[in-house]
Amino acid sequence: MTGDSSASSLIVGGPASSPRAPLPTLPPLALYIHIPWCVRKCPYCDFNSHTASPVLPEQEYVDALLADLDQDLHAVYGREISSIFFGGGTPSLFSAEALGRLLEGVEQRIPFAHDIEITLEANPGTFEQEKFVAYRKLGINRLSIGIQSFQQEKLKALGRIHNGDEAVRAAGMARQAGFDNFNLDLMHGLPDQSLDDALSDLRQAIALNPTHISWYQLTLEPNTVFWNQPPVLPEDDTLWDIQEAGQALLAEHGYAQYEVSAYAQAGRPARHNLNYWSFGDFIGIGAGAHGKLSHPDGRIVRTWKTRLPKDYLNPAKSFQAGEKALTNDEMPFEFLMNALRLTAGVESHLYPERTGLSLESLAEGRAAAEQSGLLQVEPSRLAATERGQLFLNDLLQQFLN
Ligand SMILES: C[S@@+](CC[C@H](N)C(=O)[O-])C[C@H]1O[C@@H](n2cnc3c(N)ncnc32)[C@H](O)[C@@H]1O
Ligand code: SF4
Repeated sequence: MTGDSSASSLIVGGPASSPRAPLPTLPPLALYIHIPWCVRKCPYCDFNSHTASPVLPEQEYVDALLADLDQDLHAVYGREISSIFFGGGTPSLFSAEALGRLLEGVEQRIPFAHDIEITLEANPGTFEQEKFVAYRKLGINRLSIGIQSFQQEKLKALGRIHNGDEAVRAAGMARQAGFDNFNLDLMHGLPDQSLDDALSDLRQAIALNPTHISWYQLTLEPNTVFWNQPPVLPEDDTLWDIQEAGQALLAEHGYAQYEVSAYAQAGRPARHNLNYWSFGDFIGIGAGAHGKLSHPDGRIVRTWKTRLPKDYLNPAKSFQAGEKALTNDEMPFEFLMNALRLTAGVESHLYPERTGLSLESLAEGRAAAEQSGLLQVEPSRLAATERGQLFLNDLLQQFLN
């Protein structure tokens, strides 16, 4: 059915494109809300986050977010949202009152799915029991806590605002406040980190029994302090040992890897992120937020919002900074750069369902990728081999038009 098209229903994605059929059904819809402030900017971080002034413009920002959402509503009329993710920055800097007003405003504009997942990113340096109890009462039902490491000298090297004890206490407070579903963010490959250091961090995280662990290898990103003054990072051999031993430890304790850096207990992968990785739709509101929406006429459009908080809050400037309709030629790469991050990949039928293109359009890249041992030879799935997961960029190159 997905490959069906008729002359009247065809759309053209761009000059180099062949015709594409309207999507048979629209994918699930999520909402990303960006809160761009932190207590202090971490030296390794290239996210759109800015050191907060003593008084946060909470009310103005909530007003702006709702006005921003109003401008996107026409594109999602009649749909409901299956997940919301408050990312940052440090969304847990915002009061429960502000987030409550925001969530109420969002629900007045778009219906929530009955089992909606609402995640909030939280920094252990911002935990107060009362505030987290209030967050839970608002319907926020998942936390993502930025721990990074439990070891004092590592936290110091990373410029974090909390110590290891506060990180442990944060997980306790989250549970006490009624969050039985929470993620811990950890990083590895830290300055001077040994294999034992990295495994000790993981053991400590596992002991807190989170439903989900995101375990990222530290990368040096342009426009960060670490990029300009690089710290001494572990040798490649140590990084490799950490990766292998860490994955084994996580698996042994019931955390199954389902994406490059994501590990979850059974049934607990992050729904919001899964939607993103499987080319689902999402509205992005807030400074610098990105969105991706499929339209009933077959267009698939990426949008991005004004990046600097002061510009985003300036009524003379528009919220949206740009948009781009994906062309047919871009579609294979756009779809696969996310789908192939998933350890199990995706079922093949998702490609025509979510892009409007036939599987035939992937055939050439698929054959080359299978031949080089980077893509699994499995007609019903699109999934990287173990080698393909290690060389994801090489694998994706096969699908660049
Ligand atoms: C947008 S941050 C938000 C979390 C929250 N603001 C905090 O830091 O507590 C999401 C996660 O990305 C990871 N991260 C940020 N910069 C990174 C880098 N350069 N390399 C690897 N992981 C990074 C960290 O684990 C961080 O918790
Ligand atoms: S607290 Fe999180 S978002 Fe903020 S600067 Fe640090 S890593 Fe980046």
